Amino acid sequence: MWLGEFLVSHDWPFHAGAVDRDLVTERLRHGYYDGPDRATFIVTDGAQRVGLVRVEDLDDPTPTFDLRIASALRRQGHGTAALRELARWVFDTLDVERLEGTTRQDNVAMRRTFRAVGFVKEAHYRRGWPSHGGRLLDAVGYALLRTDWREGTTTSVDWNDEPDIVDGPTGV
Ligand SMILES: CC(C)(COP(=O)(O)OP(=O)(O)OC[C@H]1O[C@@H](n2cnc3c(N)ncnc32)[C@H](O)[C@@H]1OP(=O)(O)O)[C@@H](O)C(=O)NCCC(=O)NCCS
Repeated sequence: MWLGEFLVSHDWPFHAGAVDRDLVTERLRHGYYDGPDRATFIVTDGAQRVGLVRVEDLDDPTPTFDLRIASALRRQGHGTAALRELARWVFDTLDVERLEGTTRQDNVAMRRTFRAVGFVKEAHYRRGWPSHGGRLLDAVGYALLRTDWREGTTTSVDWNDEPDIVDGPTGV
């Protein structure tokens, strides 16, 4: 089975929890990869299979995804191309305004891939990503808006929106 072979043959340094073929078989049986609210696509470069993208929460206003490229084929543009294609599929297929993804803070490759496709960082979860050995690392959340996707624009988050707490709340 290609899926099992792919998942056990490559390194996933930013994913906690080992995956073996039995787990993949179990997950396939229980609809982890395909179902009413999720779908999994094999990423190809036209000639060969290079990766996998699993998108979920398709019945939610904000679908999210997991993208994986084969170890030896990383940093060749496949991740960016796959994420672009995923965004196109999501916005063409679903009536949603956002596509979201979360990764570990130190996953530079994924963070740069988000940005290459027009995603904007909009969340930072301190100690929010359980890592190997139970260590808790920070996680970061990015999202792509349909409007930015359509217009080729980048809408920033207004981070300076904290209510003024220096003088205390007013009107209380
Ligand atoms: C994250 C991942 C999907 C990116 O796919 P990729 O094919 O390697 O990425 P690309 O070749 O399209 O490169 C995208 C950007 O990341 C940068 N990049 C890729 N690998 C990098 C690395 N190891 N270190 C620093 N930057 C890196 C590229 O230079 C490019 O940046 P730019 O657009 O600013 O020039 C891939 O590395 C992967 O599968 N990693 C393991 C699984 C994983 O962590 N998935 C994320 C789940 S949350």
